[in-house]
Amino acid sequence: MTQENVLEALKNVTYPGFTKDIVTFGFVKDVLVNGATVGLTIDITSSADEVKAQLRDEATTELKKLGFEQIQINVTAPQAPKQMSNSVSGKNIAPHVKNFVMVSSGKGGVGKSTTSVNLAIAMAMQGKKVGLLDADIYGPNIPRMMGVNGQKPEIQGNKVNPLKAYGVEIMSMGSLMEDGQSLIWRGAMIMKAIEQFLRDILWSELDVLVIDMPPGTGDAQLTLAQSVPVTAGITVTTPQEVSLDDSRRSLDMFQKLHIPTAGIIENMSGFICPSCDTESDIFGMGTTVPVAKEYDTEVIARIPIEPAIRIGGDTGMPVTYHKPDSETAKRYQEAASKLLAFIDKVNAEGGADNSAVQPTTPPGVSACSTGAGAASAPAQAAPKSNDESSGTGCGCH
Ligand SMILES: Nc1ncnc2c1ncn2[C@@H]1O[C@H](COP(=O)(O)OP(=O)(O)O)[C@@H](O)[C@H]1O
Ligand SMILES: [Mg+2]
Repeated sequence: MTQENVLEALKNVTYPGFTKDIVTFGFVKDVLVNGATVGLTIDITSSADEVKAQLRDEATTELKKLGFEQIQINVTAPQAPKQMSNSVSGKNIAPHVKNFVMVSSGKGGVGKSTTSVNLAIAMAMQGKKVGLLDADIYGPNIPRMMGVNGQKPEIQGNKVNPLKAYGVEIMSMGSLMEDGQSLIWRGAMIMKAIEQFLRDILWSELDVLVIDMPPGTGDAQLTLAQSVPVTAGITVTTPQEVSLDDSRRSLDMFQKLHIPTAGIIENMSGFICPSCDTESDIFGMGTTVPVAKEYDTEVIARIPIEPAIRIGGDTGMPVTYHKPDSETAKRYQEAASKLLAFIDKVNAEGGADNSAVQPTTPPGVSACSTGAGAASAPAQAAPKSNDESSGTGCGCH
């Protein structure tokens, strides 16, 4: 018996599901014939056990027909990919972005966009390649806050270049439409828009993409979680009990969507008087600590009400960049360091994985339209006006 005889016989073994045989596919390797003994390797692309067993049985039958008494067949298959980084876990439609951070809140006006802007800038100042996606389709405030209001992004073929400011790449629906236009979106359109923001924007190879979400727990959040493995979720809340109720919903959503929770940012927590620099309590301070404990996470920053934050947002000159020595800038930097450490920890433990939240509904049916708690993204509440706090301070004079 020769190698040729063996290969000829194995042409009778077709690969399951195909009409081609395993020899023609080139799967049969290392054939060694020694008298009535034959050894060979079948190197296949499927790691399914049934496929391996079927090929081994059929090949053995063919070789027995040739008269071999000792038959050794080694079937090798690729290992199922090990989940070492988020880019290989579940679905990722923006694989050139290493980590995704979802900034969310139960309601509008609590400082989500302000937090997203300052965290993104702080991480860029710490040497990371950072992008900032304004996914708040109803209330896109990021362009103004980043000082790129009115700038139109460059179109490249059917893709769009992000804008750039303070070392951060930026994209927002506000940059793609005319100022002051209102948008009426249905759930399916929101989902499409989120996907396009991830797929059709020419983001660089980012270390982190910070995503400023619409308030609440709706279609946008679900679509994002299904489209990319979100490495870290941050909830922004103000200290009042009514706001905390909403932030619990936000934290619960992270758990349901399998998003590792980096922590809570307690915003408008106390007030730093611009005249005397003292910090006083307005909405209550430290009320978020028990909520963090409830959800097994921590408060990564307490950011006081500071007129400079509001002014920085309105004028496109964020405090973290323009007032790096201020108390609030330091707190944003600290929060950014904690967030980066959290991201490292998540990745060291195998990375984020969104395979558990993939849609199970038939194509064309929105998974979120079936759940009572997942209504279309609610309209954004009017932002709180902080004008009072930018006046004469806390009454110290
Ligand atoms: N810590 C703060 N101190 C002062 N003003 C703040 C603070 N956080 C947010 N603001 C202001 O409050 C308003 C609402 O904040 P914003 O970030 O737009 O909230 P959201 O994105 O949650 O709707 C903005 O005018 C912003 O400048
Ligand atoms: Mg906002």
